[in-house]
Amino acid sequence: MDRCNFRCPYCMPAEVFHERFRFLRSPERLDFAEITRLAGLLVELGVTKLRITGGEPLLRPAISDLVADLATLPGVEDLALTTNGVLLEQHAVALKAAGLDRVTVSLDSLDPDVFARMSGGRAQLDRVLAGIDAALEAGLAPVKINVVVQRGVNDHTVLDLLEHFRGRRVIVRFIEYMDVGTRNGWRLTDVVPSAELRTRIHARWPLEALEAGYRGEVARRWRFVDGEGEIGFISSVSAPFCGDCSRARLSSDGKLFTCLFAAEGADLRALLRGGMDDDALRERLAALWRGRDDRYSELRARATRDDKAEMFYLGG
Ligand code: 5AD
Ligand code: SF4
Repeated sequence: MDRCNFRCPYCMPAEVFHERFRFLRSPERLDFAEITRLAGLLVELGVTKLRITGGEPLLRPAISDLVADLATLPGVEDLALTTNGVLLEQHAVALKAAGLDRVTVSLDSLDPDVFARMSGGRAQLDRVLAGIDAALEAGLAPVKINVVVQRGVNDHTVLDLLEHFRGRRVIVRFIEYMDVGTRNGWRLTDVVPSAELRTRIHARWPLEALEAGYRGEVARRWRFVDGEGEIGFISSVSAPFCGDCSRARLSSDGKLFTCLFAAEGADLRALLRGGMDDDALRERLAALWRGRDDRYSELRARATRDDKAEMFYLGG
């Protein structure tokens, strides 16, 4: 889903994504059958983890039906969804029943003013917190929380956020603010390197490193020495992991992107709607994957580019 009910300035600044912004029209979006067909082919090619994202996926009508379709694909080991959490309370039980394994909730701060600023002022923090509680109750575990850290904006509220979530079966992950898209005015000085943040957290609650869960895991995992849980750091700016990345992203209108920082995706909707059969589509997908050579984050230091697709369109 390319639409969102938030306007986080780092993702969908309200000046750009205003009332008259041209989001996709319904027929332009892949329908659930089309998404499921492509996902099925990708799973046959070896994909085991699927994530529904956006924009805000819970804005898509009957999203649990898509979850149910994807959950029945043989070979899917991990089916997750990323949401801003505002609509999660009313959806959590149905999502779980449909076969969703877990959710990740984007929540940058528990300070009401900072939260309002970072989400574009349209959202209610108490709704997000209720959504997280509902997800925990529904067993959508582990619940992860994504915190995008921006220097001088929310980095001073990070310890309060951890204080709240420590010991509550929630994994908080801190994401270095990235130069995704072209509209957020990103500057390197806005980034708080994970090492710096970790030092600050460690001074309050000592941390020790954990092993990666699997090859290509983007978050570096740490645990609180006092046993109060685990946190993660996603450091695409200070420690790029392009070489290990095994993700592909499918936009709402059916373009396949092999990098978060790509300018163009491959138009699979045209192939689907043009009547291509499964064998030919599978071959096309395999060729796209073999042919990828993206490593933007490793090259970023040399030059940032101004032709990148936007985050709300690609998902995280
Ligand atoms: N840098 C880092 N993270 C971002 N997200 C959105 N835009 C950016 C950015 N520029 C995060 C969202 C969400 C996840 C999908 O990506 O907050 O948690
Ligand atoms: Fe919406 Fe997430 Fe982008 Fe914020 S970061 S505008 S919640 S898609």
